[in-house]
Amino acid sequence: MNAAPIGIFDSGLGGLTVARAIFARLPHDSTVYFGDTARVPYGPKSPATVRRYSLEILHWLLGQKVKAVVVACNTSTAHALDVLREASPVPVIGVIEPGARAAVHETHGGPIGVIGTAGTIASGAYERAIHAVAPGVPVRQAACPLFVPLVEEGWFDHPATRLAAEEYLHPLQVADIDVLVLGCTHYPLLRPLLHRVLGPDVTLIDSGEATAGALAEALSERGLDAPAGREPEHRFAVSDDAQRFQTIGARFIGERMGSTEVVEIGTR
Ligand code: DGL
Repeated sequence: MNAAPIGIFDSGLGGLTVARAIFARLPHDSTVYFGDTARVPYGPKSPATVRRYSLEILHWLLGQKVKAVVVACNTSTAHALDVLREASPVPVIGVIEPGARAAVHETHGGPIGVIGTAGTIASGAYERAIHAVAPGVPVRQAACPLFVPLVEEGWFDHPATRLAAEEYLHPLQVADIDVLVLGCTHYPLLRPLLHRVLGPDVTLIDSGEATAGALAEALSERGLDAPAGREPEHRFAVSDDAQRFQTIGARFIGERMGSTEVVEIGTR
């Protein structure tokens, strides 16, 4: 079981930012990544639909004999983490709790800002997770639906992206946040731009990095660490258009993507 891969899934290719953090934190672990490119985006979809898609992917990953599953997608974590945990015989790690803990660790009393997709923000999942560890800290949230397509376009530092960021972040700046949780897979790629808009006094939290740490702890606690010195194997699978996934994915993962298989999943 220790040599078994870690399953990672996302609505598409954004979760590669989380995969990258996992590769760095657990260099001997193999992974199987699934991106639901046929059905992305999850952000504007109903909780019931996101739960159904997420369960279908969980079952596919379990069929790949994974030893743990990381829900890299914030929207899936917000809507489906509980049902996934109930349905899974292996540990399931979401991105929201680790991100919330990291934010509480960094804040000097708040407010803590949270940005994410419409679904993640409407669910209130980050606010609940923050208040579970720090009940009194004020939280200010903002949905930033244009960020995902802007990032997919590669406009990490484009005037249009800067304009959108200024508009979305204005209420959080007025509220005087001291920490901002990047509560969406795509947002770590906007880190330099967001840092410029918000200035040096606001600490940016990458939920993906925090999740890699939580995953390492969860594996260790269960005696599931990878055998030392092992060469990892990283597999990638998508539900549509492997070519686009590989081309754009290279921006997320910082190196050329390996080959990607297309698998049929669910009913569409
Ligand atoms: N992966 C999604 C998330 O982290 C962003 C893209 C989407 O809307 O599907 O919430």
